[in-house]
Amino acid sequence: METERINSPERKTEDNFGYTLRPKSLSEVIGQNQLRENLAILIKAAGQRSEALDHVLFYGPPGLGKTTFAHVLANEMAVNIKVTSGPAIERPGDLAAILTNLRGSDILFIDEIHRLGKVVEEVLYPAMEDFALDIIIGKGPSARSVRLKLPKFTLIGATTRLALLSAPLRARFGATYRVDYYDRESLKQIIERAANMMSIEAEDDGVEEIARRARGTPRVALRLLRRVRDFAEVRAGGKLTKSAALEALELLSIDSLGLDEIDRMVLLTIIQKYNGGPVGLSTIAASISEEPDTIMDVVEPYLLQLGFLGRTAKGRIATQMAYKHLKLDYPDNPIQPSLLN
Ligand SMILES: Nc1ncnc2c1ncn2[C@@H]1O[C@H](COP(=O)(O)OP(=O)(O)O)[C@@H](O)[C@H]1O
Ligand SMILES: [Mg+2]
Repeated sequence: METERINSPERKTEDNFGYTLRPKSLSEVIGQNQLRENLAILIKAAGQRSEALDHVLFYGPPGLGKTTFAHVLANEMAVNIKVTSGPAIERPGDLAAILTNLRGSDILFIDEIHRLGKVVEEVLYPAMEDFALDIIIGKGPSARSVRLKLPKFTLIGATTRLALLSAPLRARFGATYRVDYYDRESLKQIIERAANMMSIEAEDDGVEEIARRARGTPRVALRLLRRVRDFAEVRAGGKLTKSAALEALELLSIDSLGLDEIDRMVLLTIIQKYNGGPVGLSTIAASISEEPDTIMDVVEPYLLQLGFLGRTAKGRIATQMAYKHLKLDYPDNPIQPSLLN
């Protein structure tokens, strides 16, 4: 059974307001200053040369703005954007159909690009490099390859797993950007902007409490904001105050650092079932009946960032900080530091 996580940065259908809240221009984007600056240069340079944008790859954990940035680039360049995803393109023919329907300067956005099949990926290489499509006509000994010219388009790829992208595919992107977790101040601004657009009366303290627990992730911040708004409407006269935020978040079992049941279960499993580790992520996922993808894309990066998990060649270990956060005694003979890294 799938667990519904309130602080999951993965997209859910109920997120329809997330779409309207999505910044459309670079100037509406909050935070990610360096990335924003890089994109501004990319856009300006392409504009000055009247060329299509270089192929761009965004990578980083879910909910940080990869899809948003792809749309912002399309808006800023005033070009069409076609959206698809790795798993949706099953056969080379599917991709060929998409590519032949593109017009000059169009953006093709492929989400979860690490999930493209090998054969499909090979169609992409000449398309990205030479704007050409090689088609085989006929079968058997009489088969021959014909090269079709494609318009100069821009491919934007997004992935949560850069490591799963093949080297030849990675090499064909002119620009690769990492989208990182947001700082507290940026998250506060994102929440304030959303609260404004949703006509929620929000106090600074209340916004702060949500930002603190949003795992550095705009999508989580927006989802928490909606849950807190529900609570505030039903129990606190509609105003997003500090106490309304605290009570709502408590009811949702989200702790002071934004950890939920699954995060805590992962840490507790390492600590209690595996003596603090090292233990493999897939073993942890299996022992708490969670999707390994959720653990790898969502739980692990955040726990690593907090310094609660350590990576060793033999698996993950729980750090002293993790024990402390869970109010557990750190063992007398902890994991040798030499195991770290
Ligand atoms: N820099 C940002 N400023 C404001 N809102 C943002 C920003 N980045 C993301 N968001 C919001 O967070 C949500 C998730 O972003 P999205 O682009 O879908 O993430 P990803 O594609 O990386 O999973 C969107 O609804 C968007 O409104
Ligand atoms: Mg996305």
